[in-house]
Amino acid sequence: MADFLTTHKRTHYCGDLNGSHAGQEVILMGWAHRRRDHGGVIFIDLRDREGLTQVVFNPEVNLACHEEAGRIRSEFVLAVKGLVRKRPAGMENPELKTGEIEVLANELEILNEAKTPPFVLDGGAEISENVRLKYRYLDLRRPEIQQNLFLRSRVAVATRDYLHREGFIEVETPFLTKSTPEGARDYLVPSRVNQGMFYALPQSPQIFKQLLMVSGFDRYFQIVKCFRDEDLRADRQPEFTQIDVEMSFITEEDIIAIMEGMVAYLFKTCLGRELPLPFPRLPYREAIDRFGKDNPDIRFGMEIRDLTEILKNSGFKLFAEIAAAGGVIKAIKVDDGKALSRKDLDELKDFVAQYGAKGLAWARVIPEGWTSPIFKFLSPEEVAAVNAKLAAGDGSVILFVADTPKVVCDSLGNLRVHLAKKLGLIDPAALAFTWVTEFPLFDYSETEKRFVSTHHPFTSPDLQDLPLLESDPGKVRARAYDLVLNGSEVGGGSIRIHRQEVQALIFKALGMSDEEARGKFGFLLDALEYGTPPHGGIAFGLDRLIMLMTGADSIRDVIAFPKTQKATCLLTEAPSTVSVEQLMELSLKIVT
Ligand code: AMO
Ligand code: AMP
Repeated sequence: MADFLTTHKRTHYCGDLNGSHAGQEVILMGWAHRRRDHGGVIFIDLRDREGLTQVVFNPEVNLACHEEAGRIRSEFVLAVKGLVRKRPAGMENPELKTGEIEVLANELEILNEAKTPPFVLDGGAEISENVRLKYRYLDLRRPEIQQNLFLRSRVAVATRDYLHREGFIEVETPFLTKSTPEGARDYLVPSRVNQGMFYALPQSPQIFKQLLMVSGFDRYFQIVKCFRDEDLRADRQPEFTQIDVEMSFITEEDIIAIMEGMVAYLFKTCLGRELPLPFPRLPYREAIDRFGKDNPDIRFGMEIRDLTEILKNSGFKLFAEIAAAGGVIKAIKVDDGKALSRKDLDELKDFVAQYGAKGLAWARVIPEGWTSPIFKFLSPEEVAAVNAKLAAGDGSVILFVADTPKVVCDSLGNLRVHLAKKLGLIDPAALAFTWVTEFPLFDYSETEKRFVSTHHPFTSPDLQDLPLLESDPGKVRARAYDLVLNGSEVGGGSIRIHRQEVQALIFKALGMSDEEARGKFGFLLDALEYGTPPHGGIAFGLDRLIMLMTGADSIRDVIAFPKTQKATCLLTEAPSTVSVEQLMELSLKIVT
């Protein structure tokens, strides 16, 4: 075999051939994608990463070669030497990049055989994902997934180009480290040499990149794996990749400008798409009020409107009671109400129930008023005011939820996206970026009964709000920003705290005792005392960005070897049990 490859060097990729190569002798290497036999002539579509070429084995050209070709089955690995020729008139295949030509083989080497694959490689979506993941190396032969990974590689190269040009230094930070809080659980790694002790895999390089600023690197970046043990969804993986950035002596505006430049550069060089800059910005409060989410999809309207003032005294008791108890009444409007049948409206009730809504009232606007289960309870003035607030006219459907502000936002925010998809209101080609700014520094956690960081505890509060830290922590604004694309959070960052006393105050506000803060982050508090410059940064979710750039449905389609929703790898069968000896070495015992 080695002999063959010593004497035969590939001259072209299959997918690179076209009419201009006609008359040339070529050597191709790849996989037998499809085989057809026609009147004694064998046609093989030979595939490599660049595409397909039709190879013709004609017994009149080379009998031995034709005979050998008879052995070829799907996915055999072949080397073929032959002459490129234009296909006879009428036989061209315009669907195929190489459809103008074919290669007339006069030499064939079967480099390896293949078992019949467990699924057809051009089968597409109907193959079960579990089978695809178990045989991921075969799944990765599919051109769609290969294209996703090619784009991913181009984006990584372009990211490095852009950031190097802007003076950023790429520095690697440790994976075996101490817990960095980003709101998820840590993956722990037991230490053998320090029995009973554990490393945590980083949820992000957050603290290290800040320490690099203390050291004076000024501009840092890294394309880096992060590890988070959290509940998985279509856009989340337990290990994922960030484009992680930190800068010194800057404000929000500097970071936003450089990062918008980077995103525009990536879309331009890798997809040929021009992005208009600057991206729009939405304060957090406005995002929640208008879209019900801090990752709003602004490709379509159907914005949420607050009807509490209009309906708080209405004859529909339920609304009046909810408003009196401090709840809110909000609604969205569908212009083309005909698109929603009575059955659809009933199903939407089940949809919002997932988000805690106890019901979904609806109204169909007609010239005489509304067709609606709640029409009879409302005064004509109330009906008119609701119509006006939502700009609803004949044919619109209005959908109301009344509940606590959180339930209403979650229900209507998700209903809005659900309906836009269902009713085809989203332009699939649109790229709607928006920054979300002015986040609250803390969220109140009902489960933990205390304030937790909205971003992470190193985010600087708006210094004007410092006096509120003790009196009204929920009102303190953060110097944080997220970048949202088509309703997905693709990046997030902040200006950091660079003064030790402010950092200590924040740890305190988070309910951490001095002792606990020192135990967890003493090294950071120390470092802040040795001349820390003002600094800030951001991290982009590379996988999510590629998912949106490729239009893939799942983050798993842009990661070579992804994990399932249950955080398992079906290919290697990780995680798996380990031997008793391994556990003993680590002084670990499984308690079940
Ligand atoms: P954050 O936690 O917002 O910020 O993460 C940054 C971006 O990473 C992506 N992301 C994920 N992608 C896939 N799977 C996951 N489980 C996952 N979790 C997050 C998102 C997100 O916007 N250290 C800070 C950044 C900073 O402040 O500079 C951080 O990690 O696209
Ligand atoms: P009922 O009087 O309970 O039949 O409710 C009348 C209408 O109000 C129905 O369409 C319910 O789905 C709807 N509804 C019930 N609870 C709520 C709520 N919390 N918010 C909005 N609509 C509701």
